[in-house]
Amino acid sequence: MVTKPSYFQSRYLAHKYWGRRPWYVVRGLIEENTCEGDVVLDSFCGSGTTVIEALATRRRAVGVDLNPMAVFITRVTATPADPAALTDAFERLRAVAQAPIDRLYERDPEGIVPEHWYPDVVLPHSSFGAARKGVTVAHLFSRRNLAATAFLWHAINTLECDPVSRDLLRYTFTAALAQFTKMIRTKKEGTGWYVNAYRIPRSHRENNVWHSYENKLRAVLRMKRESNELLGHVEITQAPPTTPGATCCLRCGSATDLSFLPDNSIDYVFIDPPWAIKYFDLSVLWCAWMGFPLNFDEEIFPHEANFREDMARALKELARVLRPGRRATVNFATRHTDQINDLREAIEHSGLEWTGTQTLQQDQLSFVQRQTDLALKANYLLTLEKWRAPAGAAALPVTADCVAAMIGALLARRGPLSYDEIFQHLYPEIARRPLECDIRRVLERNFRLVEERRPYVEPRWAAD
Ligand SMILES: C[S@@+](CC[C@H](N)C(=O)[O-])C[C@H]1O[C@@H](n2cnc3c(N)ncnc32)[C@H](O)[C@@H]1O
Repeated sequence: MVTKPSYFQSRYLAHKYWGRRPWYVVRGLIEENTCEGDVVLDSFCGSGTTVIEALATRRRAVGVDLNPMAVFITRVTATPADPAALTDAFERLRAVAQAPIDRLYERDPEGIVPEHWYPDVVLPHSSFGAARKGVTVAHLFSRRNLAATAFLWHAINTLECDPVSRDLLRYTFTAALAQFTKMIRTKKEGTGWYVNAYRIPRSHRENNVWHSYENKLRAVLRMKRESNELLGHVEITQAPPTTPGATCCLRCGSATDLSFLPDNSIDYVFIDPPWAIKYFDLSVLWCAWMGFPLNFDEEIFPHEANFREDMARALKELARVLRPGRRATVNFATRHTDQINDLREAIEHSGLEWTGTQTLQQDQLSFVQRQTDLALKANYLLTLEKWRAPAGAAALPVTADCVAAMIGALLARRGPLSYDEIFQHLYPEIARRPLECDIRRVLERNFRLVEERRPYVEPRWAAD
């Protein structure tokens, strides 16, 4: 079992992104599976944990994500920048933006009309989007904060400064953007955008846009000082890092097509595909302001019909680009029978051999993990290797009787356990075999609940 040192690091605190895995686990895997100078790939790189930890340990990195916002966050984190140049650009931005924005908070909001461009993109209507149809990005802002946000965005984009500082000012803007909206609860109830959807709580605050932006800049400066020191000189390219000088290749594209990478060119892969979150729905707010297009058609999501096919294509690409004898680690986190089987079948057809499954205990639970007692409290790390001896006889299916027997034996040994604890014991045992039943249903049919349900406390199951 992999455990933790300190979770909080400035490089991962400045900008929100959903589903980051603990950096020290990713770093440990990179160190275990590669040497300095080797090439590490993450084809679902998100906000860049794998890329950043690979660079921090003097490996070369390739990061791919279909979400342009993910690539932007990774690029800004990895790009060396001069904190003094950023502070200077920020002070010049303050000179043009702070007073006009502050004045908006002295006025009657009724008379305020935004004088600069703002996006009026419709938010997706989904459990990760807006609760009502037809809600736009602009609806998330009070009239005053829409005017202030549009003013600030215009000021950032028209300020004379070097491109690296401008990217950092834009990054600060998107990192603070949720704080400008009506999605933030009153202080008593919490201060962040912590519901992963576009929801306006009954009691919300109207933050001063400039003050929130200035606060965020402090976090961005801390992030940049830390990443400068940790990563040193990083050269970011679009081309594969085949020359020793090129340290980091970042691409916006689908994991199902890595044709820019030659065969047998990668020394290690870490991927964490989406399991519970629709990243594109949640990125609309940022992308609308940034002007980034989102290719929803190619987004991989486990609840979509073509998930198995997409994962099979993504894994086949990994098998092609990995050097023989090298490893890929896949982070996995779903309790749904269909998805468990989809992933197993995708692996079986990929050309990669499955050699191990271990539990990744998280120090920090995500919002979904904390709030839903059906969500798994652990992730699993699956180890795949390229071209080892073919697996033996076809694996036997895991039937409902088989699961009931395994749970019965576990409960007899360990006493009452929660569904999550049971799943954690079972999954490494059954991961590589076809699963023919729903584990939760087997529990309900064969075992009894020993404690009453209380909010946020998982009920436990016992054998009769
Ligand atoms: C669990 S997140 C990865 C988080 C990442 N490990 C980090 O450090 O932030 C999964 C990522 O898969 C991306 N994604 C979804 N469909 C994709 C596709 N077809 N190709 C590449 N990336 C995709 C999402 O945009 C999201 O960033």
